[in-house]
Amino acid sequence: DDVRELRPVIEKAHAAVMHMRETGEVRGHLSKDGMPEKVLFSKLPYVSEGNLNSPESIARLKKFGEKVHDEADVVVSFGIGGSYLGGRVLFDTSCGEFWNLRTKKQRGGWPEFWFSGNNIDPQRTKDLLEHIRFSAEKKRTHEGGKLNVFLIVISKSGSTFDTMSAFMVVLDELRKSENIDVRVVAVTDPSTEKPTLLKKLAEEQGWETFAVPDGVGGRFSVFSEVGLTAAVCFGYDIEAFLAGARGMDEACRTPELFENPAMLNAVLKFLASEKHGRDIEVLMPYGDYLKSLSEWYIQLLAESLGKTYNRRGEKVYYGRTPIVAVGTTDMHAQTQQHQEGRLNKVVQFVRVEKWKNDFEIPNVFPSVEKLASFSGAAMSSALETAREANEEALSGNHRFNALFSMPELTPYHLGELMYLLALSVAYEGELADVDAFDQPGVEVYKKIMGPRIAALGRKPSEG
Ligand code: PA5
Repeated sequence: DDVRELRPVIEKAHAAVMHMRETGEVRGHLSKDGMPEKVLFSKLPYVSEGNLNSPESIARLKKFGEKVHDEADVVVSFGIGGSYLGGRVLFDTSCGEFWNLRTKKQRGGWPEFWFSGNNIDPQRTKDLLEHIRFSAEKKRTHEGGKLNVFLIVISKSGSTFDTMSAFMVVLDELRKSENIDVRVVAVTDPSTEKPTLLKKLAEEQGWETFAVPDGVGGRFSVFSEVGLTAAVCFGYDIEAFLAGARGMDEACRTPELFENPAMLNAVLKFLASEKHGRDIEVLMPYGDYLKSLSEWYIQLLAESLGKTYNRRGEKVYYGRTPIVAVGTTDMHAQTQQHQEGRLNKVVQFVRVEKWKNDFEIPNVFPSVEKLASFSGAAMSSALETAREANEEALSGNHRFNALFSMPELTPYHLGELMYLLALSVAYEGELADVDAFDQPGVEVYKKIMGPRIAALGRKPSEG
């Protein structure tokens, strides 16, 4: 009944999203400079001549990946928010927790890969530097020669403090070591009209560059060179990832609500919050390496839909508060609240249907009846049984929940899921009539913080 009542709004939202896909513009909405707001993320899955991802740009990325494979010992990717979270998901789901503990040979010749610049944290920065210096010393002693370190600095604006401060500290320190050879690659807005600081620096210093395309906001940029430059440094199949996104985009072109996954997801969430007061959204994938998917989604949802004003300038206080959870871990922590707390949440599960690796639980203590009774069960089946139990318990107590089911944890299926979620917020922006592509709220603290941080620095008169 809710859906039936909403039909005219849904049809309008679908027409607006189709217009955005075809023209790259948001209908009836002007950006600050009075021009139609450009939104191009839905073009990214399509690799073709003249597109943002062209065959040449993919070939160039792959060539860069080969260079990194052949020449780098360590890669550090600097970035925050949209310039970090997408790459992190690709890394975690393909490399896992122990990647950097393996030898280069065990990694198939790929270098170590670290993230930095996603906080202003002196302790972790010191630990990272100490680790790199230690690796350099080890290389010098055992193999001779310098440690080859690639620093990838990703910033659309080219001057984000968190990213640039960590980058400058690490670059400066590593340059002091005679055992380390440092190369820098910059990923930033390529526009020449008003070049970013990072672009200017890259030109001055002769650094290789990749682009954060105009019209692609940070939280949608995993499908662009932002996510892909990082991904080729650990051998990620970027073409399969884009093919998954493309497959999902094609599946979401139909105006038939129950056949269009992104639109259906948006409509159900919109109704859950607007008609049923469910304004907290928990993303709870089952599996450790999917935790960063939840973290990526937090930014997507919070920045896109958390808005005071709608597009007509009316105060609406729209959006849902996103929460990161992981199954089964958080069944032992958050589930009490999900099950019995206020009726204000939607819990969304992500499951992997077929895991690449599995274990049968062995009968190690046959005389301990309870432990022996688990034996013979596959860990993957036990994981899914736990998820189903959680789903059933929530459903039995009027708790809204949903399931995204991935056939396998591959780049293709991850591309499908991440794209579905991105397109879904575009649909929901239209349903709620809020601008899903700006983030005026984050400018407020930046205006307070900027001058204060600048005041901490050395003044030119002080040398
Ligand atoms: O979504 C966004 O726009 C932000 O989260 C940015 O990605 C983040 O602030 C980093 O910005 P930049 O890429 O300009 O360094």
